Amino acid sequence: MYTVPQLEDYSPAALDKAVHELLAAARQEADAVAGENEWKVFRDRWMARKNGILTQINDLWLKAAPGPAKREVGARVNQLKTQVEEHVSAAQQRSSGATSIARLESERIDITLPGIARELGAEHPVIKTMNEIVSVFRAMGYSIAEGPEIETDYLNFEALNFPPNHPARDTQDTIFIAGQEKKKQRDRLLLRTHTSPVQIRAMLNQPPPIRVVAPGKVHRADTADATHSPIFHQVEGLAVDTNITFCDLKGTLDHAMKSLFGSDVKTRFYPSFFPFTEPSADVQITCFKCGGKGCRLCKMSGWIELLGCGMIDPNVFKSVESNGYDARKISGFAFGMGVERITMLKYGIDDIQLFYQGDVRFLQQFT
Ligand code: PHE
Repeated sequence: MYTVPQLEDYSPAALDKAVHELLAAARQEADAVAGENEWKVFRDRWMARKNGILTQINDLWLKAAPGPAKREVGARVNQLKTQVEEHVSAAQQRSSGATSIARLESERIDITLPGIARELGAEHPVIKTMNEIVSVFRAMGYSIAEGPEIETDYLNFEALNFPPNHPARDTQDTIFIAGQEKKKQRDRLLLRTHTSPVQIRAMLNQPPPIRVVAPGKVHRADTADATHSPIFHQVEGLAVDTNITFCDLKGTLDHAMKSLFGSDVKTRFYPSFFPFTEPSADVQITCFKCGGKGCRLCKMSGWIELLGCGMIDPNVFKSVESNGYDARKISGFAFGMGVERITMLKYGIDDIQLFYQGDVRFLQQFT
């Protein structure tokens, strides 16, 4: 290991030799540096202010030099310092490169290993059917309207011609928000029992003519069983214009049922009652399983009941009269269907609860 010699001879030849030996040592030690820690040791050995080799040269060579030689020694020592500094920084570059290569080496990953496959999600069968229904009507020029699930008593019932205490309210077991006894009945909040309040909202938003479908979630205080769920989905439809007749309603729904269930199904309109339509009807289609002969699915009747509909009751137009709905000038129809029921019929599902249990084995069948 190199140590700084005392100089006795200050002749140029002797200085040359001493400088040569020192630089050779610096180069050799620099070349041997591998890694950051070794470089730090090397740097301190040569450049530390206290007792580094360059400091020692200052003391042993320059300060000790006799007067006449000082100038010559000073010039060489300065040159030496620059050269040693160059070795130190060159060694730093090389060794930090070596360190990062070593790090990369230790962090090497095997990119040929197979990755972790994440399975793609898919549309839930209920949402899938809902979208299908909506797109059938969109193709006929209907746009989409939406409304909140928390609704006022007024929009869910009164504006739709269910007067307070009317027995028709009993057919839709309603979940009310608690603690509203102080409010007037029409302002009380409830979970909408059907998507029909969206009819009223749409007509308040847009003067006639109007064609909208309103898909969404509805709530009824029903006990869950194979065909009932307290939360389910409906698609409501509304068309209002001049000269809309029951024929338009029949043609529209006949076309929609054929699009959803196949072009050979037949439809029939069975008298029914809803407070907001007059006349009202239930739409039935020929059983797509037995073709109308009678089977378990259609309870041997050959017909399956699918949805409610009717011509808008003039009393409903009264609640939106201010927006141009004058029952003497316009007419319209509405219809509403349960999405779960249609999905169950389409796919032969016998328990509505399967939709809400999140069992992947069930859901996978619809991907
Ligand atoms: N809102 C009715 C229900 O939930 C369905 C319906 C909608 C009937 C529109 C006629 C017209 O039972």
